[in-house]
Amino acid sequence: MAFEKLASLNEVPPGGLIEIVRGSDLYALCNVEGEIRALSGTCPHQGGPLGQGALDGGFITCPWHAWEFDTATGVCLFNDEIRVPTYSVRVESGEILVDLPEVNRAGHA
Ligand code: FES
Repeated sequence: MAFEKLASLNEVPPGGLIEIVRGSDLYALCNVEGEIRALSGTCPHQGGPLGQGALDGGFITCPWHAWEFDTATGVCLFNDEIRVPTYSVRVESGEILVDLPEVNRAGHA
C-alpha cells in the first residue's frame, strides 16, 4: 500500500462526488461534511460507475440500478455481505492522497 495523489481538494467540495480513472481502475472520491472518502469506483453489482452516481449524506447511489453504499464502510445497504473496497485518505497541501492497494498500482507507475 502506498499513498498516491488522485485529485486536488478543490475538485471535491463538500457534498461532491467525482470519478477518478487510473489505468483500468475506477475510484470514487467524495466529500462528506468535509471528510474525504475514497472507494472503488466499480459497483459490485454489474460494474456501474459509482463515481458518476449520487451522493446523499454519507451514501452513494449507483447510477445504473440504484444500489446504495455507505461511503465510510463500503457496505451495501441492501445486503451487508456486499461491499465496495474503501481506502485510507490523507489530505496534504490541498492534495488528496489515497492508499491504493499494490495490485491496483501495478502497471500504472
Ligand atoms: S451496477 Fe450498480 S446497482 Fe447495478
